[in-house]
Amino acid sequence: MSSFKIAVFLSGNGSNLQSLIDTKKINNDHSLNISVVFSNNKNALGIKRAKENNIPFFTLDPKKFNSREAFDEAIIDKLKDFDFDLLVLAGYMRILSEKFVKTYEDKIINLHPSLLPKYPGLNTHEKIIENKEIHHGATVHFVDSGLDTGQIIGYSKFEVNDYDLTSLEQKVHEIEHKLLPLICSLIKNDEIKFIDKILTINGLEYSNGKEYIF
Ligand code: GAR
Repeated sequence: MSSFKIAVFLSGNGSNLQSLIDTKKINNDHSLNISVVFSNNKNALGIKRAKENNIPFFTLDPKKFNSREAFDEAIIDKLKDFDFDLLVLAGYMRILSEKFVKTYEDKIINLHPSLLPKYPGLNTHEKIIENKEIHHGATVHFVDSGLDTGQIIGYSKFEVNDYDLTSLEQKVHEIEHKLLPLICSLIKNDEIKFIDKILTINGLEYSNGKEYIF
């Protein structure tokens, strides 16, 4: 089987990049490769993780560009040097331009720390606390030009017992570290398909994504 390549975009810690690296190692999976890591932050810990694991990476500073479009154009240009089947936003804290999304249409997935469509955007844990939500979780979805609005692929939830920011963040991360590698692997194995905007998982249609219980 030829190897399936992913590009990972991140802005900070990169624990989700680490989970992809670790899952690949644990499963001894040579069929999934991270061909490039990109960050808008040259000091991101995720970049250090890429370096330590000999994964090619590049960074660009948005402040050096006049517009979101110009910045994204520069990324598109750099990405021409790398081969990838899937682009994974794993803690990438920037909104993509329409041109960028169109260029890689239906090839970009995003990991989001809430049960979408509830709480798109930032500060999701704070909102859970504020609204005393019973459930919290994480979602992986295809990216369209809206803010966290693309087709939901899968999600996983837990019951909130402790309305504490650190513990919520930690629990969401625990879920994410299972959900993201699983979904990448299902896409790699062609078990998840997104054709003509219709999502199927193992041949069954899921218009609102599939729940994964860990
Ligand atoms: C993750 O919780 C991810 O869901 C979130 O950032 C965190 C990154 O963690 N992404 C977003 O909020 C995107 N809007 P990590 O850097 O440790 O992987």
